Amino acid sequence: MGINLTPKELERELRERSLESESLIQSLFNCDRRHFLKVSARFAAMAAAAGVIQPHAFQLVDVAYAAASPDANPEVGFRFAYVSDSHLFARGMNHRFAKAALKAVEDVNALDPQPDFVLFGGDLAQDGRPEELELGRQILSGLKPPVKMMVGEHDWYFDLGEKWRQMFGPDRYSFDHKSVHFVVLNSVVEDDFWTVKGYTPEQRMAIVAGLDDGRQSRFKVGEEQRDWLHKDLEKLPKTTPLVVFSHSPLYKYYRPWNFWTDDAEQVQALLFPFKSVTVVHGHTHQLLTNRIRNITFHGMLSTAWPWPYAPQGLPPLTLQMERTDPFDQFDGCGDGSVDVLKSGTVNANYNLWDRNPRTVTYAEVTKGIKGGGPSY
Ligand SMILES: [Fe+2]
Ligand SMILES: [Fe+2]
Repeated sequence: MGINLTPKELERELRERSLESESLIQSLFNCDRRHFLKVSARFAAMAAAAGVIQPHAFQLVDVAYAAASPDANPEVGFRFAYVSDSHLFARGMNHRFAKAALKAVEDVNALDPQPDFVLFGGDLAQDGRPEELELGRQILSGLKPPVKMMVGEHDWYFDLGEKWRQMFGPDRYSFDHKSVHFVVLNSVVEDDFWTVKGYTPEQRMAIVAGLDDGRQSRFKVGEEQRDWLHKDLEKLPKTTPLVVFSHSPLYKYYRPWNFWTDDAEQVQALLFPFKSVTVVHGHTHQLLTNRIRNITFHGMLSTAWPWPYAPQGLPPLTLQMERTDPFDQFDGCGDGSVDVLKSGTVNANYNLWDRNPRTVTYAEVTKGIKGGGPSY
């Protein structure tokens, strides 16, 4: 397995390997030490054979939700939590991705104090099927705090959002919470590539899910929604802290994988006049932080699988994080929370399930103290 796999190939590879990993994990139960060593060696061999990432030594980490309580920091105004990119297949609660989504629900419900609300960051379903969305709705209904929903491309392109909107309401909206203005966008709008070609809903969904399929366009917010955003923001004083939720990153991160929003600059232009702006996005399935002028961007973790960092052609990032181990089903996966400070800026808490938790503070981002490229 090389590092130049397309997202689709990587996803298939991960799925196949996860099946093998699951059977290995099963065999770890009730086994003696000799058998354990044998099984561990098979894990190591699998990773080494893959030839991308050296199998890292097993490390004991505190996997409990370790983001300090917001009450412990007097600068914190409030906290919201997030669960994102669950990619549920309609194979019931026993599917690995369903179990992972349930784990995220448990994590959030165990937070003390409870967050003010939970953002679901999009890609609830894998193939946009009504039964997948229904499974997701069922799992998320276990969350104790109120839930704010956002749409991802995997939720949308089977029926162009019909079922999703029926279940969860509008795909773009805004709300105010404790003096902060929140905006939720549908940033996975694509040009119609399907009508002329007569693609079926299944074909359309598969092409979009491929991310690097040449037949689709790049994601965008679109003119109509930008007009709506302009109207939504123009009534606000420019000192109002803004937090924008989008599924794709609202900047041009990596075009070949559609980690990209085509009209990002036009959306950013609407946000630049504000004093403090944070964009929290899904889709990239990795620990990711960037800053462009006054806008800080935080990517959300996926509960289903991590994407690696693209090998080349990335813009300078404020923080460059460690690569994840694709042969560990939980390495790079997780959920998280965001502490909104009284100043209106945010600290992002990444609750990684198989590594130590990581908090990216506003101070760290703005100082760029962890290497990588400068803010720009
Ligand atoms: Fe996703
Ligand atoms: Fe996505």
